[in-house]
Amino acid sequence: MKFNTKILGTGSFLPDKILTNDDIAKRVDTNHQWIVDRTGIHERRIADPSKDETPSGMAKIATERALEVANLTANDIDLILFSATIPDHFFPNTACMLQHKLGITNGCPALDVNAACTGWMYLIPMANAMIQTGLYKHILVVGGEMTSSFNNWDDRNTCILFGDGCGVAILGRASENEESQIYSTVLTADSTKRDHLKIPAGGAVQRITHEVLEKGENWVQMNGQEVFKSAVKTMAALSEKVINDAGKHMNDVDWFIPHQANLRIIEAVGNRFGFPPEKVIINVDKYANTSSASVPIALDEAIRDGRIKRGDNILLAAFGGGLTAGAAFLKY
Ligand code: UT7
Repeated sequence: MKFNTKILGTGSFLPDKILTNDDIAKRVDTNHQWIVDRTGIHERRIADPSKDETPSGMAKIATERALEVANLTANDIDLILFSATIPDHFFPNTACMLQHKLGITNGCPALDVNAACTGWMYLIPMANAMIQTGLYKHILVVGGEMTSSFNNWDDRNTCILFGDGCGVAILGRASENEESQIYSTVLTADSTKRDHLKIPAGGAVQRITHEVLEKGENWVQMNGQEVFKSAVKTMAALSEKVINDAGKHMNDVDWFIPHQANLRIIEAVGNRFGFPPEKVIINVDKYANTSSASVPIALDEAIRDGRIKRGDNILLAAFGGGLTAGAAFLKY
């Protein structure tokens, strides 16, 4: 028996603390207008770990919001898949931390996946396959990111770009009379570009030493222009592919939710296939790049404010370090 996958509920959490471009300009040589012109970002949110605004702590609140919409309880979740570029800890994994915080007692498996900003998108085809085959019934798919923990606040090339937040979706079975389904998905990774976006130290290859800290190798490093070019090309190509694979046309897309890294990247992708700007969901101005949380946060916001309705066809696309990329086309 093959089941169709339905998004049963979504939720998100953004910390209250706002960091404006002017705040950043007090620390590094930049200014509000440069940041807005080059990225479209006006402000971003910053998590406070003392209030448990950690990847798992933010995910707890986002999940509770999604459970309410889905009319489920935490113990109905039978698999947790968590994308966090920087997890709570190397281990136990963040999915286990979340299982604990949600008070889940059913012993459901809990797994972290890291594909940088593409992490949540990487989990969608995996969760889809497991719903379709009947292996699991209610899969919690989380993108929970505290990018402020890898952001170098003295590097103007990167510190303007990122923000904290969490978005989740609970995937389950569509009933026989429902149209909801995931039409098509695609994932890629191009390791020839692995050095364009990375955190060199802190893992097994290069442990943290005084020298590492002095050189700032424990922070994110990026070749912005290379990432930009690759992001536009890949997100446009993968978006076209999932639409074609679904046997659909660009006109069939009701909403496009791209990874929220840079407004210029989003506009360039839309222009490549002549996609109407009013059908593109954008919140990079408010939250900056929340890594793998960006697509599920934007999805949740657009559902909650009534733009996305049941029956709409939604195109999702993301890219990130690796360089990884992915897209999905679905009926909500
Ligand atoms: O999830 C994936 C995450 N990464 C991305 O999505 C990043 C993709 N790349 C980008 O978004 C863009 O490349 C950036 C926003 C990072 C940079 O924009 P750009 O148009 O590619 O600027 P650039 O790197 O070519 O820099 C232009 C100038 C340089 O000065 P000179 O050499 O022309 O004198 C930079 O030093 O702007 C300077 N610059 C800044 N000036 C003010 C770089 N960062 C800043 C800054 N404020 N924050």
